[in-house]
Amino acid sequence: MSEILQKIRNRTATAVVIGLGYVGLSVAVEAARASYLVYGIDIDQDKVDQLQSGKSYVSDIKDEDIQTLIHQRLHAVNEFSSIAEADVVIICLPTPLNKTREPDVSMISSAVASIIQYVTKDTLIILESTTYPGTTEELIQKVIEDEMGWKAGKDFFVCYSPERIDPGNRKFNVKNTPKIIGGISPVCAELGAQFYGSFLQEVIPVSSTAAAEMVKLLENTFRSVNIALVNELTLMCDRMGINIWEIIDAASSKPFGYIPFFPGPGIGGHCIPIDPIYLSWRAKMFGFHNKFIELADDINSNMPRYVVSQITDILNEYEKPLKNSNILCIGMAYKKDVNDLRESPALEVFKLLQQKEANVTYYDPHIPHFKNDGQMVYSVELTSEAIAEADLVVIITDHSSIDYPLIVENAALLYDTRNVTKPLEGNIMLLGGHKRYGNTFLRDEIFQTDMEGRDSFD
Ligand SMILES: NC(=O)c1ccc[n+]([C@@H]2O[C@H](COP(=O)([O-])OP(=O)(O)OC[C@H]3O[C@@H](n4cnc5c(N)ncnc54)[C@H](O)[C@@H]3O)[C@@H](O)[C@H]2O)c1
Repeated sequence: MSEILQKIRNRTATAVVIGLGYVGLSVAVEAARASYLVYGIDIDQDKVDQLQSGKSYVSDIKDEDIQTLIHQRLHAVNEFSSIAEADVVIICLPTPLNKTREPDVSMISSAVASIIQYVTKDTLIILESTTYPGTTEELIQKVIEDEMGWKAGKDFFVCYSPERIDPGNRKFNVKNTPKIIGGISPVCAELGAQFYGSFLQEVIPVSSTAAAEMVKLLENTFRSVNIALVNELTLMCDRMGINIWEIIDAASSKPFGYIPFFPGPGIGGHCIPIDPIYLSWRAKMFGFHNKFIELADDINSNMPRYVVSQITDILNEYEKPLKNSNILCIGMAYKKDVNDLRESPALEVFKLLQQKEANVTYYDPHIPHFKNDGQMVYSVELTSEAIAEADLVVIITDHSSIDYPLIVENAALLYDTRNVTKPLEGNIMLLGGHKRYGNTFLRDEIFQTDMEGRDSFD
């Protein structure tokens, strides 16, 4: 341990990051900035090529950041032999759900198989991928101990440290977000804390890898459940003729005991829709059925359908069927200011509208194109003509750079699922069934009459 500790202290340690996606590239860049020699491994040759030519594909990392580090302290490669040089190996691979919505940890297992081929004694191995409690022990510690005949905490070191990066967040980044770390043993935890502490602002140790795994799942389950709560209250307020946006604004004036969450067209990204399912799946192995998680998943995943039902209601009021109507979707990314489409609720809204035979187009400054049922779809330009040609414009993702006044001025019908048009004067329909005229919220008769006797999730 003393040798690797010394290398961390004088920054001569070599770090290998496996998986150069949103998480891995951010960690690799930060470690390289701290003077570590970093090898980033990714099986996606296109990503490796882009990095090698000084280009970033992650919206929070600038090309200049890559250009100053690449070929010097940062090397992007598509094979695993650099692990032989590594003092620290950080695994940042995807942890999706499979077709039956169960955890798919196969990429972690495949990385461990590659590590075993090259790893040398005294290496510190850290898992950053979000996963269920017990993964680090089962898939990393035990497998390497069995295959190599080594003992964790003595011959090699193992930690879990969840990545808490929030893409698009301008205030908090990898460096200034406190880093949780749990080790297989106190020695492992100490090494992990020393490593991250050498280039991140704050490290918070917890008692075990399972505790560190659970911290991340608590954080994301908290978000999923609270978003679901406000989404369900939106549907309830809709029935009751109460404006949820006004209620949230007013409740947010309470300086203690309340944290505002906002309704929306559904949840997306790699984390919030997936991570809680990892936890409920694991809990079932302990005979525990987690009701909150399942319920939140059910409510959140039905929001795109609710959005489409409100679009249908609005058009109906203006004597237009959804079929053959021109619908312009604003924003396809799963959340504002990112170029990530994964699990985006906008994709489902888009598909559902197409299934109802609407003519659907989209505008997203961060997503120039995407594949829909095998066919490439391209973003239109946001011009007054494109807006005016649509029978209805629906704001799904509230990117900061979008010209909302242009949309408000030119849209025949505007439906805003994020209340991003709040500062603007106009005739705007909001998620939850209210219209806003200027700064005044009015209950819209469209929704009042039409909602009676209808099920929440039709
Ligand atoms: N994206 C986020 O905001 C975020 C935040 C916190 C935690 N996480 C978690 O971090 C983990 C990684 O997420 P991400 O968003 O960076 O994923 P990502 O899909 O953006 O990146 C993963 C990368 O791994 C590469 N890869 C896949 N298999 C590989 C293999 N066998 N060897 C080498 N490279 C391989 C892929 O090509 C890809 O570039 C996940 O567990 C996720 O839940 C993500």
